[in-house]
Amino acid sequence: AANGAKAGKTRNILEKMEESGKNCIIFYGSQTGTAEDYASRLAKEGKSRYGLETMVADLEDYDYDNLDAIPEDKVVMFVLATYGEGEPTDNAVDFYEFINGDSPQFTLDNEPALGNLNYVAFGLGNNTYEHYNIMVRNVDKALQKLGAHRIGQAGEGDDGAGTMEEDFLAWKDPMWKALAEKMGLEEREAVYEPVFGIVERDTLTAESPEVYLGEPNKTHLDGSPKGPFNAHNPYIAPIAESYELFNVKDRNCLHMEVDISASNLSYQTGDHLAVWPTNPGEEVDRFLNVLGLTEKRKDVISVKALEPTAKVPFPTPTTFDAIVRYHMEICAPVSRQFLATLAPFAPDEASKAEMTKLGGDKDYFHDKINVHHLNIGRVLEIVGKGQKWSNVPFSAFIEGITKLQPRYYSISSSSLEQPKKISITCVVEEQKLPGREDPFRGVSTNYLLALKQKQNGDPNPSPYGLTYEITGPRNKYDGIHVPVHVRHSNFKLPSDPLKPVIMVGPGTGVAPFRGFVRERRKMVENGQTVGKTILFFGCRKSTEDFLYSKEWEEAKQVMGDSFEIVTAFSRESNKKVYVQHRLKERSKEINELLEKKAYFYVCGDAANMAREVHNVLGQIISEERGVPEAKAEEIVKNMRASNQYQEDVWS
Ligand code: 2AM
Repeated sequence: AANGAKAGKTRNILEKMEESGKNCIIFYGSQTGTAEDYASRLAKEGKSRYGLETMVADLEDYDYDNLDAIPEDKVVMFVLATYGEGEPTDNAVDFYEFINGDSPQFTLDNEPALGNLNYVAFGLGNNTYEHYNIMVRNVDKALQKLGAHRIGQAGEGDDGAGTMEEDFLAWKDPMWKALAEKMGLEEREAVYEPVFGIVERDTLTAESPEVYLGEPNKTHLDGSPKGPFNAHNPYIAPIAESYELFNVKDRNCLHMEVDISASNLSYQTGDHLAVWPTNPGEEVDRFLNVLGLTEKRKDVISVKALEPTAKVPFPTPTTFDAIVRYHMEICAPVSRQFLATLAPFAPDEASKAEMTKLGGDKDYFHDKINVHHLNIGRVLEIVGKGQKWSNVPFSAFIEGITKLQPRYYSISSSSLEQPKKISITCVVEEQKLPGREDPFRGVSTNYLLALKQKQNGDPNPSPYGLTYEITGPRNKYDGIHVPVHVRHSNFKLPSDPLKPVIMVGPGTGVAPFRGFVRERRKMVENGQTVGKTILFFGCRKSTEDFLYSKEWEEAKQVMGDSFEIVTAFSRESNKKVYVQHRLKERSKEINELLEKKAYFYVCGDAANMAREVHNVLGQIISEERGVPEAKAEEIVKNMRASNQYQEDVWS
């Protein structure tokens, strides 16, 4: 498990705690940054409210075989997200295998093995997925089995219900009380202590070559990015092609292909492409302005960790502009606790009182802020009534705002057909919300739209008024490049091409299935025989959002009867027709294919569609095989467990 290690850094957690004088370590298993964020917040609160010596640790940076040697006067916290289909996050895979293994080997011969270990656990999950919060549940179980002592409840946050933040807040107060009692800690008035110091670098300018203006690391800064390209190091991929897939004015759906031939990246059909977005200029400007940083936005600063275990989450020296544009998730809806932490630095008494109220009153916060999905810049503008929030230490924003994260898209091309070109298919996100003039817009999909417009030389480069620095830091890229990496997934065609496949993918859920169909079509062109390949696709109208309609025609011509597409147009009659209705109409055939061990795939909306498809499949099996519904449900569950039923869903 040596991969996450940085040269010269210890992987021995106990040694690390001892040399840095820590008594509380907070491990996180994070994919999109939220768990990491929560871990930092716990670290901060433990320090400021209880005087704990806390440190946050990435699970992949340490070994776990000496968890048994951590003495009883210390505590270990686990903040663990469950990813996708009940999988550990990438950085928690090794830990999960270790702790969940049959008999994890520890350094001492304690009986029970973890009898000395005090721990705290919180999970981040989504109840619309099959394996809700399975990570924290299984880790908790494993730790209990090994004799470790849990302090407080094992918390569970639910992104599916949209209550993640409130679940976290409701869990942590009783946990702190229990922990304080166990460790004999005294609660005190929280005093803010910055984790990061800002040093102005007067001798440097934004033109100096050593200043990071958004480059993710040194190799990028030096102009010679090197692989491996991964979640820490993107490949700046040329965009080979991009075009609009919808035939309507008010919505956009992009097909975008990136060329990876000049990199050592590779992919397999069904994998995900991670896109590293940039924040839109309007929100960057708003944020810098409300902090009173507009004049200083291009001043060069270094950011230094004031605590030995804190990590500056971006490279420096840099500028405020670059930090905000490339490294902070400033467009995300703001969290309630973050507002509370900013209250002491408000520009006047009225805004201080308002921030305190918003931070403390769940319902008030919900009505005023949450329903409008307001980001931090907008909240500060509204609450401060235009005054500048220049009293807030910039460190508070570095600590309180998530790192800007790559976004993952299902790859819609086939690696058999085009191993060096990857395509994605995405709807440009725009949500109209009450009480807001402009819609809430997806950062990444709007960034991709701006790139597409630039590449195609669209006359009106930004119909939404969103402007992106699409040419990259220092204008190094001509606006038709995008930083990416590839994430492997288990969503794969059967290795036997003769196996039948049933694919259900309404809307952009069709993305991976375009890849699957193109793959099998290529096999046929190569002279191979393929099994029945049937796609259930749904959209509003055949004339508006029927994605890749021509390609399905071509596939039919090449593949003949082995390919079939079944469509469900939901807005062409006065009755909603969805993919699951079409499945039901084909009960007999679906059941026969499943009995021939067909693979069954679902991609798209997790909240409703995927769940309804799951249920309909149960009904089909029950009716066609004449078994009770409970039995049919069990059969569907077993199909999932054996990977005959695979999902790639999102919410
Ligand atoms: P609608 O928007 O007309 O309700 C792609 O978004 C397609 O999925 C659209 O035709 C959409 O229909 C449809 N859709 C919406 N909710 C769905 C559900 N619960 N199950 C299946 N399809 C759904």
